Amino acid sequence: MTLRHFLSLLDVDAQEADQLIERASKLKHMQRHGTAHALFPNKVLGMVFEKPSTRTRVSFEAGMAQLGGRAIFLSPNDTQLGRGEPIADSARVISSMVDILMVRTSSHTKLQEFADHSAVPVINALTDYNHPCQLLADVQTFSELRGAIQGRTVAWLGDGNNMCNSYIEAAAVFDFELRIATPLGFEPNGALCAQHADRLTLLHDPAAAVRNADLVTTDTWISMRQEQEKQQRAQQFALYQVNAELMAQAKPDALFLHCLPAYRGQEVSAEVIDGPQSGVWEQAENRLHAQKALIELLLQSSQR
Ligand code: CP
Ligand code: NVA
Repeated sequence: MTLRHFLSLLDVDAQEADQLIERASKLKHMQRHGTAHALFPNKVLGMVFEKPSTRTRVSFEAGMAQLGGRAIFLSPNDTQLGRGEPIADSARVISSMVDILMVRTSSHTKLQEFADHSAVPVINALTDYNHPCQLLADVQTFSELRGAIQGRTVAWLGDGNNMCNSYIEAAAVFDFELRIATPLGFEPNGALCAQHADRLTLLHDPAAAVRNADLVTTDTWISMRQEQEKQQRAQQFALYQVNAELMAQAKPDALFLHCLPAYRGQEVSAEVIDGPQSGVWEQAENRLHAQKALIELLLQSSQR
């Protein structure tokens, strides 16, 4: 069998990536207009969550139902994974019973190990390293609200975290310029930056990053499992808040995106996230449509 995983945006080429976004918008239209698209009756998605989630869980579970299939939620609390059953064994067993899997976990190595021992496609639903499903939704949202992202300038503010790494991958696949402003010591993955240096400008000055940008984006300063660093990080990142003053330096029609959950008054001011330039609700909804397009691509190109 040909097996196709989605562990990073770099697992799709530029043409496939564009097709995924187009298909996601089409599936959205079909969903909104009540056009039946139960393309995968009886297919089952296994959903392994080792970290909390609202959007990812609901979008995958609802998406699979809309495609005519079903989804099974698997958390470490309720499976033997939480009692130390090896990942390789778990992956072999679970993948012998489902048609496709999504995994949210901490280390990317664990995700890779899961994929290495899976008999069905594995989707990365977030690791400490990256969050590629979110980027499909982000690019879809920009395309729908502002047109093609190719050749545009995107500004990332704040932590050089998993979302930031996925923006770097997206800059390569979707062909845009990326300016990243982080505090010293919070830069994104060094190897990834080196690999895509032609797309990137790494800065420490938020205003310089945002100047004339088409898209301004950020993420929480405190990712899951960094809760104990909350106070220290609030001080370290204070100058990187996306507020009206900062947005005024971007293009007048610049879009603001945030993968959510958001913390108003920290990484973003309420007037920006709840204001007219914000596309965060469309962005959250687009997780549903983009992942349906992704499931379709992976199931169709991984025939048993
Ligand atoms: N953006 C995102 O992945 O949200 P959840 O953590 O709620 O799934
Ligand atoms: N960087 C955040 C993203 C949440 C969707 C985290 O890892 O918690």
